[in-house]
Amino acid sequence: MSFNVAIDGPAGAGKSTVAKSVAALKNFIYVDTGAMYRAMALYFLRQGIDKTDENAINAVLDKVEITIRYENGAQQVILNGENVSGLIRTEEVGNMASATSVYKKVREKLVELQKNLAKKADVIMDGRDIGTCVLPDADVKVYLTASSAVRAKRRYNELKEKGTACDLDEIEKDIIERDYRDMHRENSPLKQADDAVLLDSSDMTLKEVVDTITAMIDKKQGA
Ligand code: DC
Repeated sequence: MSFNVAIDGPAGAGKSTVAKSVAALKNFIYVDTGAMYRAMALYFLRQGIDKTDENAINAVLDKVEITIRYENGAQQVILNGENVSGLIRTEEVGNMASATSVYKKVREKLVELQKNLAKKADVIMDGRDIGTCVLPDADVKVYLTASSAVRAKRRYNELKEKGTACDLDEIEKDIIERDYRDMHRENSPLKQADDAVLLDSSDMTLKEVVDTITAMIDKKQGA
């Protein structure tokens, strides 16, 4: 039986940074499910499909093949044979992913892929619905959050470091909108699973969060 860790939470809470560190420490495979929704969104953007047109989206789903592979331990997302990992980190793709991940058929397709990955290997998977839908029987479940102000500031610093012009208030507004959409959609909304541990990282260092989750895993593995 594989060991599964689920990490859910809103955009910018630090899920992927934390999950990558824990995966390296515990020798687990890190699965970034947001990247799959982003790759799918990139396909819709390239096809010029309107994000509100569910029928058009459903009609092309059979033509979209998303797979992942690992290069030096880093997840690569493959869209119809093309490695799109470097193209999916923009705000445009993120917003399209948030808007199109509301659709049932989009979710079904990616959830199946995610469940299969978790069956085959020890994984730490992050997303919005991992503890509630994808891996309801995960061995460890964490709901990682932080205040919208803290998350906006982190994103702002990241963008500034890359030399991208940005506005802190705009970023926070975007984050609040994205949270609202992710939490209020009909299909698999973002919410804390009943048996997930809540971690608010607003006043925690990365190391503290990583240590807390690693200790939870160690305890479960030792049990
Ligand atoms: O984590 P992220 O920003 O890369 O995710 C992009 C969008 O994808 C997010 O706004 C909502 C959606 N998503 C989802 O619905 N379910 C997941 N398990 C992961 C992401």
